[in-house]
Amino acid sequence: MANAAKLPARMTAMAISEPGGPLVLKPETRDLPQPGQGEILIRVKAAGVNRPDVQQRKGLYPPPPGASDLPGLEAAGEVVALGENVHRWQIGDQVTALTPGGAYAEYCRVHETNALPIPHGFTFTEAAAIPETFFTVWHNVFQRGRLQKSETLLIHGGASGIGTTAIQLGAAFGAYVIATAGSAEKCDACLKLGADRAVNYREEDFVKAVKEATGGKGADVILDMVGGDYITRNYEAAAEDGRIVQIAFMGGARTEADFTRLMVKRLTHTGSTMRPRPVSFKAQVAAELEDRVWPLLAERRIAPVMDMIFPLREAWRAHERMEAGEHVGKIVLDVA
Ligand SMILES: NC(=O)c1ccc[n+]([C@@H]2O[C@H](COP(=O)([O-])OP(=O)(O)OC[C@H]3O[C@@H](n4cnc5c(N)ncnc54)[C@H](OP(=O)(O)O)[C@@H]3O)[C@@H](O)[C@H]2O)c1
Repeated sequence: MANAAKLPARMTAMAISEPGGPLVLKPETRDLPQPGQGEILIRVKAAGVNRPDVQQRKGLYPPPPGASDLPGLEAAGEVVALGENVHRWQIGDQVTALTPGGAYAEYCRVHETNALPIPHGFTFTEAAAIPETFFTVWHNVFQRGRLQKSETLLIHGGASGIGTTAIQLGAAFGAYVIATAGSAEKCDACLKLGADRAVNYREEDFVKAVKEATGGKGADVILDMVGGDYITRNYEAAAEDGRIVQIAFMGGARTEADFTRLMVKRLTHTGSTMRPRPVSFKAQVAAELEDRVWPLLAERRIAPVMDMIFPLREAWRAHERMEAGEHVGKIVLDVA
């Protein structure tokens, strides 16, 4: 491992002491992770907070085999050590990376292909807010959902970390974007980010709103994190040959559904989870992002929506904020 001599042997991390509420997140002293073949060690400056971290803390989303037991799916910082066969990065490079776990810590190891350069002009906290939502949205909306220019994209949870990224990417690539959210303030935020129509689902039926906004045609691609009774309603809101991509089930994974419209409209209902996918798959998503999306970030045509920043040791406050559900965009931990 190159440059290891200058590094401490131990680091501070926020660990999940037992499954439970936000206060089970506790500081622990851990050995520094050792970068393996093709891996880099990052001195973490900031780590993004994501809903899956909350699920992991509750004991509902265990880390995949081989991943750190520490929470944290994305980190931005400086490369401080290289494993064997690292080709792209040098000590001192500033990167932002997707990781299957371990970012709530002062040091984190990732495969070099799952790291990207920090877009020009971005702070570490902004950069740490990019990977998880951009990888997830790119794969599910563009690769899996095959969103095309001028198509209609319906995004549920428009004000979430995922939703705020999906709105910006959908708009940047020429889609007509409809977002749903649970308050007038969240709907305003969606419109400011580039949604053409925002639907407050507490006051309006999103199926009716989508039909009205599309002249009866429906949405070509639907990004759904809700599930439950949205399954049947998504089939109603979808256009012929529409693609519905499931990324979570916040409203429940079990439901009674009417599949008639799936058949009649020739819908595709698919889904995926990013975290357990192999490094090589994430590398392919990273390469497309760098080619197609990093130039938009560098021009600040799109940027992560920053909600609040908390110190690493107050990760429990970050989780409290996320679970209160009032945030818009990304919550980030400052590890500096
Ligand atoms: N499949 C994957 O690869 C993948 C990757 C990352 C994240 N995810 C999932 O994507 C979702 C968003 O993640 P995030 O980090 O962006 O989370 P987040 O910022 O906390 O957003 C969650 C959103 O869900 C909405 N919501 C909460 N409970 C709901 C319910 N019962 N019914 C309807 N809407 C509800 C809230 O919006 P309103 O107030 O507007 O309801 C909130 O904006 C999470 O479920 C997460 O697990 C999946």
